[in-house]
Formats: sequence, C-alpha cells, structure tokens
Amino acid sequence: MKLLIATSNPGKMHEFRLLIDLPELELVAPSEIGLKLEVEENGATYAENAALKGRAFSSASGMLTLADDSGLEVEALGGLPGLRSARFVNEAGATDADRRRFLVAHLNGRLRPWTARFRCVVALVDSQGKVDLAEGVCDGEIVPQERGVNGFGYDPVFWIPGLGKTTAELDTIQKNQISHRARAVRAILPKIQEHLSKS
Ligand code: IMP
Repeated sequence: MKLLIATSNPGKMHEFRLLIDLPELELVAPSEIGLKLEVEENGATYAENAALKGRAFSSASGMLTLADDSGLEVEALGGLPGLRSARFVNEAGATDADRRRFLVAHLNGRLRPWTARFRCVVALVDSQGKVDLAEGVCDGEIVPQERGVNGFGYDPVFWIPGLGKTTAELDTIQKNQISHRARAVRAILPKIQEHLSKS
C-alpha cells in the first residue's frame, strides 16, 4: 500500500519517512508522482488547514494521504506566530533564516525564558474523503543565538531545556522522540494500520 505525504518540505518528508516505517507501506512524496498542488491554507485552525491540504492531495491522487499543519506558539507574543508561522515575515522570498531573525528581534528586550511550543495537527484522508485527525505538541523556549544545523524552520532557535539542546542540534531520530510532529504521527498510526490491514 502507498501513503501520499502532502508536503513539499524535504525536512518534514525526512521526519515522516523515519516515523512511519511499516512493512508493506510505501511513503510517497507528491513530486514522486508528478503532483504539484498549491493549497491555500486559509482555515481558522491547524486542523482545518491539515484537512484542507489532505483532501486536496487525496482527491487529486486518489490515494490515502497524510497532511500536516504546524506552527510555533510563543507565550510572550500571545501565541504568535501560530497559524501564521510560515508567513511571519510578510515579504516575498522570505527565508526560514529571515523568520528566525524576525522572531528573535520581536523578543529581544523581553524577560527570558521565552517560553514556546510547537504544535502539529495531522490529517489522514482516505480515497472517500474521510478525515481522521491527531495533534502533538513539543514544549521549549526560544533562544537568541542560533545553534545547530539539523532540521528546518525555527529549529536553530527552539531550545529543549530538558536536553540542553536546540532541535537543530538533534538528529532526526532524536527529534522524532520528542517533536510535535512525531507525537501527532504516533497518535494517528493506529488509523494508518487499520487501512493497511484492510488493503
Ligand atoms: P507548515 O506546517 O508547513 O505550515 O509550517 C509552519 C511553520 O512552522 C513553518 O515556518 C515551518 O518552518 C515551522 N515549523 C513547523 N514544524 C517545524 C519544526 O519541526 N521545526 C522548525 N520549524 C517548524
């Protein structure tokens, strides 16, 4: 059986491949089946956005599809950037590094720790359009100095106090032990296994 992962982010794809390692299940990226879809993430919640993406990719491919939506919630910023994490810098061509600098610039001068949380919702959508959802969170804090070169996005400034490292200093196996995406995926795994057992 094949499972389409509705992402064009190679960092996420790498995490998903290690997280969902089931016999007889092949994970497929949209680019591997020539599928290019831009889905407008205009939902009011992570769950709505994940379901929007999942439905669009599933109906375009006819495949069982896993989509995710995630974001970073910073306590001192009232939970921002949250749903707007990918568009936090409102400029065409802004990079992950620009978003990290913008975030730290917003926090500079505020009392530390800069408590924060990653949140992820995954949506599993079958070929009939049925949606199952699961959520995971990962608690940490934002640090002013970037550390580490692994991961993607905000990882170099997201510090896990219990480990004394940023998530960019963890390898994928270590990040998958604690991350928001890993927790959401683990919670949806039984639903994926149900589909496998029916196939
Ligand atoms: P989306 O889920 O692709 O919409 O991502 C939302 C934003 O959160 C993007 O800027 C990502 O880079 C960032 N983000 C999501 N998950 C992670 C993560 O595991 N590490 C670092 N940044 C992340």
